[in-house]
Amino acid sequence: MAASALGKTVSGAAAQSGIKKKMRYAMVGCGHRGTGMWGKQMVDTGYKDYIDFVGLCDTNPGRMERAKRVMEIPNCPIFAAEDFDKMIKETKPDVVMVTTPDATHSDYIIRALNLGVNVMTEKPMTTDEAKCQAILDAQEKTGKKVTVLFNYRYSPHRAKIYELIRDGEIGDITSVDFHWYLNTKHGSDYFRRWHAYRKNSGSLLVHKSSHHFDLLNWWIGSEPEEVFSYGSLEFYGKNGKIRGENCRKCAHKGECDFYWDVTTEKRIMDMFPANEHYDGYFRDGCVFREDIDIFDKMAVQIRYMNKVQVSYSLTTYSPYEGYRIAFNGTKGRLEAWIKEKQPWEEIEDGDVLMLTKNFGKRKIIRVMPEPGGHGGGDPRLHAYLFKGENQNDPLKQSADVRAGAMAILVGIAARNSIDTGKPIKIADLTTLKPKV
Ligand SMILES: NC(=O)c1ccc[n+]([C@@H]2O[C@H](COP(=O)([O-])OP(=O)(O)OC[C@H]3O[C@@H](n4cnc5c(N)ncnc54)[C@H](O)[C@@H]3O)[C@@H](O)[C@H]2O)c1
Repeated sequence: MAASALGKTVSGAAAQSGIKKKMRYAMVGCGHRGTGMWGKQMVDTGYKDYIDFVGLCDTNPGRMERAKRVMEIPNCPIFAAEDFDKMIKETKPDVVMVTTPDATHSDYIIRALNLGVNVMTEKPMTTDEAKCQAILDAQEKTGKKVTVLFNYRYSPHRAKIYELIRDGEIGDITSVDFHWYLNTKHGSDYFRRWHAYRKNSGSLLVHKSSHHFDLLNWWIGSEPEEVFSYGSLEFYGKNGKIRGENCRKCAHKGECDFYWDVTTEKRIMDMFPANEHYDGYFRDGCVFREDIDIFDKMAVQIRYMNKVQVSYSLTTYSPYEGYRIAFNGTKGRLEAWIKEKQPWEEIEDGDVLMLTKNFGKRKIIRVMPEPGGHGGGDPRLHAYLFKGENQNDPLKQSADVRAGAMAILVGIAARNSIDTGKPIKIADLTTLKPKV
């Protein structure tokens, strides 16, 4: 028997000998992430032995019907967004999975907590300091559990970095260089969708970089103290010379580098264009819409409570995708250049970490990705949450409400810093006082 991450007891031998008690699981937000990572992937990898899908909720009825089909749960009840509380009262879930656009998370998290239900929420936990405070207050008042789903922590090579640092291989970390590059396909996709507006995503400093800030907080083993940042919108949005409302209707199809024919992608067609008559949401929005208000280049300096200094940047229109990271320590340096392989490069086996001791030699450490999303990180996260595997959490990969808050607070501070031109103290944002 094993207690799963949310405290429910399931049988470790469930797959062979039947389940003692399955976890009742309700989901709000039936889009890409909800029905993919937390829906179809769970069905395809046998998690129906561990969970029952008891309710689905969304603003778009067509997407809920699609979710029932792809998740193979034809009899699962569906609820309009305004009936979220009704869903909880009628279906009595053990856990609510929140997979809606970022700025809407806090409302559902708080309502679920107040109705006595534990929550698993997609990152970012929320998008501004007031909503963050409201979640912290609700969690404290109810004593229920909020788990923030930071799947990046579970990739094998990132877990290896954590182990090498904790094993003291580079001594005490003094500074970190961390630079993340989104390619023109992936990067531009944020500017097509709801993410392109601060009111929905809090900007990419919150939506995307909260993954990276969480990794930093976890690797460095300290909470952040102060943040200073620059950022601007210089490429997408109003900077384009040509534009339309969305690609399918655009008059510039032949001349735009960012023209994207969504009709060639069946999964996305079924999820979004097939249901746009319900809500008017275009999945293939123009990346040069004039009202886009998020930054497309960002540089952030962070000082941690343990005096580690970080230089971070995010670029959204790179020819290829990946990241460079280097940890500088009192005994050496640990670095990696993780990126998609280019046609002109030799194929290397696995993700390569380079460990160089001061006055010593360089050691190459190869970490082989495992099957499944994020180099095998996603199946590891599923197994932890629903099968009860690795519950002692030796690498401290599970993220609670405090970790969820600390990750977004760096992004919120960075955004506030760009707006005000001033450094921002994390302690000034909420009642949470950062610590080592
Ligand atoms: N961890 C990761 O790697 C990762 C990857 C992708 C997305 N995400 C996160 O997952 C969440 C969902 O992103 P997505 O890509 O699935 O978006 P999406 O647009 O594909 O899906 C969002 C769904 O929420 C519904 N929705 C919108 N507003 C709603 C509301 N007020 N109430 C109820 N439903 C509402 C939409 O109709 C849609 O079905 C986001 O928070 C995102 O940051 C995480």
